[in-house]
This record gives sequence, C-alpha cells and structure tokens, in this order.
Amino acid sequence: MDIEKRYFPTKRELYDAVYDTADAMLRETDDACAVLANVSALLMLFLPDVSWTGFYLLKRGRLVLGPFQGKPAVAEIEMGRGVCGTAAAERRTQIVADVHACKNHIACDASSASEIVVPLLDGGALFGVIDIDSRKPARFDEEDAAGLARLAELLCRKLF
Ligand code: SME
Repeated sequence: MDIEKRYFPTKRELYDAVYDTADAMLRETDDACAVLANVSALLMLFLPDVSWTGFYLLKRGRLVLGPFQGKPAVAEIEMGRGVCGTAAAERRTQIVADVHACKNHIACDASSASEIVVPLLDGGALFGVIDIDSRKPARFDEEDAAGLARLAELLCRKLF
C-alpha cells in the first residue's frame, strides 16, 4: 500500500478517504495491532495540523497505550482520568478546544493546544479510544467527531 499525503477540500471528503483506506487496510489483515498502527499513520498523514494520532485500548479496566504516531505518551490512564479516561468512562466523544484550560487534561506534550477523543464502542462494549492532539487551538469540531465516530465503528466491527 503506497499512500501519499493528500489535500482534501472538505472534511467530509477527508473522512470518506480515511474510512475507505482503513477499510482497505482491514481487508489486508484482521490483526488489531497491525491495523491500528496503519490507521494511526494514515490519520497523521491525511489530517492537517495534528501532532499526535493514536489509540488507547481497554485492558484490565484501564486504558493502555496502543499504536500511535507522535511523541512518546503516558502509558496507562485510569477510567475517568484525563480527556481519554473521561471519553471512556462517559462513552462520549470529548472535544477540548483549549487543553490548558481543561483541568482534567493529561499533558504529554507541552505544545499541544487542542484534542479530540472518540470512544471505540460496539453496541454497549467499550474497546478503547481514538486520541488526536493538535498544536492549533480549537482544531477539532463536530465534523471531526462524526468522521472519527464512523471510523471507530468500522474498527470495532471488524477488529474486536
Ligand atoms: N491528553 C490525553 C493523554 C494522552 S496524550 O494526549 C497522547 C488525556 O488527557 O487523556
């Protein structure tokens, strides 16, 4: 698979391309580590203005760092802690426009400004979260949330 960085005129087109490429990756293997590693690389390649893209996976009741692209990050997060733990505990997407104003945020990179965390949910079952950071304030909106929720649904249905 040779995927080049591309420019997308709209977020709709961007997330359609992310979904279709992830779907192609899932046809290659159903190994979760391999697919999530490739999807984190895909998100880093296609999404403009992001500094960290990756996954935390639910293991023994905690979120454990999974495949990602970016700086080394906190390895384990308790449910309810940080933006990731909040998204997991509430099973709801969290969009943080200004991480410095968010008391619950766990800083992994001082230059990070905004963040989105989307739970990996299949029906009632939680498998982890998708986490994306940006150095740009208020980088993420409802279109990002919708596009990533669709990706999360695909990954859960095919991998877990
Ligand atoms: N900021 C996250 C921690 C993980 S890093 O962003 C990669 C949080 O508050 O849960």
